[in-house]
Amino acid sequence: MPRAVRFDRYGDIDVLNVVDVERPVPAPGEVLIRVKAAGINPGEASIRKGLMHERWPATFPSGEGSDFAGVVEEVGTDVAGVQVGDEVIGFTDERASHAELVVAPADQLAPKPAEVSWEAAGALFIAGTTAYAAVRAVGASAGDTVAVSGAAGGVGSLAVQLAVLTGATVIGLASESNHQWLLARGVIPVAYGDGVVDRIREVTDGRVDAFIDTFGGGYVQLAVDELGVAPDRIDTIIDWDAAQRYGAKAEGTAAAASADVLAELARLIDEGRLEVPIAKVYPLEDVRDAYGELERRHTRGKIVLRP
Ligand SMILES: NC(=O)c1ccc[n+]([C@@H]2O[C@H](COP(=O)([O-])OP(=O)(O)OC[C@H]3O[C@@H](n4cnc5c(N)ncnc54)[C@H](OP(=O)(O)O)[C@@H]3O)[C@@H](O)[C@H]2O)c1
Repeated sequence: MPRAVRFDRYGDIDVLNVVDVERPVPAPGEVLIRVKAAGINPGEASIRKGLMHERWPATFPSGEGSDFAGVVEEVGTDVAGVQVGDEVIGFTDERASHAELVVAPADQLAPKPAEVSWEAAGALFIAGTTAYAAVRAVGASAGDTVAVSGAAGGVGSLAVQLAVLTGATVIGLASESNHQWLLARGVIPVAYGDGVVDRIREVTDGRVDAFIDTFGGGYVQLAVDELGVAPDRIDTIIDWDAAQRYGAKAEGTAAAASADVLAELARLIDEGRLEVPIAKVYPLEDVRDAYGELERRHTRGKIVLRP
């Protein structure tokens, strides 16, 4: 029987188990994929802990995971353009990708370019589409100075690169250990913590046009009150209260969740213009360790499960 992650109640990483499950069957319009790699995301940890119960409740037993890349194993009826053996990048809305087999609608798949690694492809959906949405939301373009908090995290590491591709000057807030990585990608690194506003002003001559907040914890307020960024040029992917309070944007995955965006991001990776940094790869069976690492919140790029 295929293996998949399951949890039966809200809790810490020890509620996560990898168990035998029934083989999923693709309905009309769906495809069965053998998962080669699947990214993990902080939102999944929040859901599993019950912190999102009001917004996104779990039903038990629950699976988890949206991101995946893999090989098509079976094609349901009413599917055109996808064949057994195709290598694909995709997403599921059913909390189901942390598994050996996943079913997904055919229109939630993009072809995986041969040169894009399984790890990068499998980690692309949530972080990639969120970064894409955020850069678009703030309207980054040549001549702008754009600051990004959490600049080396899963979303931030992609957002800074996409912002650089627009021609903008990009400031990345990150700890010292990530500064070389950011510099090498054309991003001006700035350490967060006490004095961050002065350090940002120093490298920008005081002008910041747009702000992408991937961390929360007061960056929206800092952008408006201290850096003078217009609220409609701020996007936060986590601090919804601040977005409401200040009139900032809160565009994330939902604003860009499509096969077309996945295909565009995959093309950028294939062309060598975008890199998905892979912090660590864990076997599916070690899902608890993978989230243990993620929840320390200092990974550069993405953590990936390999079934
Ligand atoms: N709205 C949406 O659609 C959406 C989609 C995806 C994610 N999210 C949310 O967005 C957030 C980021 O997701 P992610 O996958 O990028 O997370 P992640 O990879 O875990 O982010 C880790 C990053 O946070 C940084 N960090 C840690 N402490 C910090 C601090 N005190 N100040 C500033 N940065 C700090 C770390 O920087 P250093 O290592 O440099 O210290 C690290 O680069 C999560 O809360 C997630 O739930 C929302």
